[in-house]
Amino acid sequence: MIEFEHMKKSYGTGAQAHEVLHDINLTIRDGEVFGILGSSGAGKSTLVRTINLLERPTGGTILIDGQDITGATGRELKELRSKIGMIFQNFNLFQQRTVLRNVTFPLELAGKPKAQRVARAERLLRLVGLEDFADRYPSQLSGGQQQRVAIARALANEPKIMLCDEATSALDSTTTVQILDLLRRINRELGVTLVVITHSLSVARNICDRVAMIDGGDIVEMGETAELFAHPKSDILKALIASADEQNGRDEDKDGKPVGGSADAEDDGKER
Ligand SMILES: Nc1ncnc2c1ncn2[C@@H]1O[C@H](COP(=O)(O)OP(=O)(O)O)[C@@H](O)[C@H]1O
Ligand SMILES: [Mg+2]
Repeated sequence: MIEFEHMKKSYGTGAQAHEVLHDINLTIRDGEVFGILGSSGAGKSTLVRTINLLERPTGGTILIDGQDITGATGRELKELRSKIGMIFQNFNLFQQRTVLRNVTFPLELAGKPKAQRVARAERLLRLVGLEDFADRYPSQLSGGQQQRVAIARALANEPKIMLCDEATSALDSTTTVQILDLLRRINRELGVTLVVITHSLSVARNICDRVAMIDGGDIVEMGETAELFAHPKSDILKALIASADEQNGRDEDKDGKPVGGSADAEDDGKER
């Protein structure tokens, strides 16, 4: 369980200080897929990066399984980070390392013996469907394959929590659905709690059990995904739903059937 209590985050100090998260109160339950939805600059990445202290809160408290982690340093911080996997929009793979050695990297940091590192990495590559790609380099893989490597690497230390920061935003809609399916499977089969940041309504709809809508550094509403999207209260969520509906309308052919598997219709035209 991840609990935020009156959490604040400012960048800069003194007269330059700029508060980007104001008073975050939120509980993410064990084993759920929790979505953080909001437009660019809303504070989503900052919020999620406080969970592994890539960003330090400037006020309030964060508890993980009841333990206050807000001030963690040294060994405690290292331990915390090893139990939290993270994946990103741009995959962030090591270009000079093979697929296998990308996945063994966190195990090297943790000081695991080589045979154990390789065995575990091979098992994870099977899990993500890349067992035949162990000796390739990232540049020899598609975007979807690169994200699978990143997912395997994020799982290397058997984390309980995985943070996904716009993990499908650089992928086309078919690949997005495949990666979301994989993440769902990891959530269900391995019991990993997923915190999914997205600007995409369809990604949130596809994978999240609950969603918090964030705007201007505040959580403006939060709830079970289906309920939240059926009865949005905030203007910002209403507008997001209206624009997605309009986009879906445009994607419908003359028989009224959706064109293609547009799970991510509002993202069309983005970088592939
Ligand atoms: N390292 C930083 N220094 C100063 N301001 C930052 C930094 N990182 C993010 N911000 C600001 O914080 C706000 C929220 O950013 P971010 O969390 O990246 O939003 P999102 O992920 O929702 O697009 C933005 O106004 C951004 O400019
Ligand atoms: Mg971001």
